[in-house]
Amino acid sequence: MSEKSFNNVPKVIAIDGPAASGKSTIGTLISNQLGYICLDTGIMYRAVAFQALKEGIDVFNEEAVSQLAERVQIDILPAEHEDNRQFTVLIEGEDHTWDIRTPAVNQVVSEVSVYPRVRTAMTDLQRKIGEKGNIVMIGRDIGTVVLPDADLKIYLDASVEVRAQRRYIEDLSRGKKVSYDEVLESLRHRDQIDSGRAVAPLKPADDAIIVDSDKMTVYEVVEHVLRLIQQK
Ligand code: DC
Repeated sequence: MSEKSFNNVPKVIAIDGPAASGKSTIGTLISNQLGYICLDTGIMYRAVAFQALKEGIDVFNEEAVSQLAERVQIDILPAEHEDNRQFTVLIEGEDHTWDIRTPAVNQVVSEVSVYPRVRTAMTDLQRKIGEKGNIVMIGRDIGTVVLPDADLKIYLDASVEVRAQRRYIEDLSRGKKVSYDEVLESLRHRDQIDSGRAVAPLKPADDAIIVDSDKMTVYEVVEHVLRLIQQK
């Protein structure tokens, strides 16, 4: 499908959904197709979690983590390395693109994302980027809280078993030594916290279109979302 086949393309597209539902893969492909920028907001929460671990801050110390979120410098740049990265992530000016994806960060990122001041700091940054338009923004609360006026809201879902299987294969291909059961357990843990928190929990916006990718390939999901964009 060429860019020319899109008229009245939605300028702001929100893609929400649980961990490992393919949001970032789909969002990147869609944004490339449209010539939009793509912002994966999970990166920001991961950056806060990573920096807390790096500085030896107790992730259960809400005040300390909130102060960190309000001061830490996070830059998300286009990928400029040939190592399959979708973005380059600088934290305090240093490249930590892969460090934010370790099991240690996975383990605590949902906890730090619960804190209201952390969310406010990240949400403010996300809105500033989002209001420029021509963007696909990915997260948990984009359609509900960050950009409630987004032109198109997709909620990308899949069963936890299918997500775990996909993430497990991805981890193996990157040389990570993990078991399927560990991945499954980690996703269940994050689902529970992401959906259960008081502020901006993971849930579809009332006007979101739910795409269940359990039985779909990446290509099929992209085609489906591009059709939804054309129908707008
Ligand atoms: O999409 P991800 O797995 O990289 O996200 C990491 C964590 O960040 C996720 O478990 C919850 C949090 N998150 C959030 O609370 N709100 C967002 N908009 C994006 C991510």
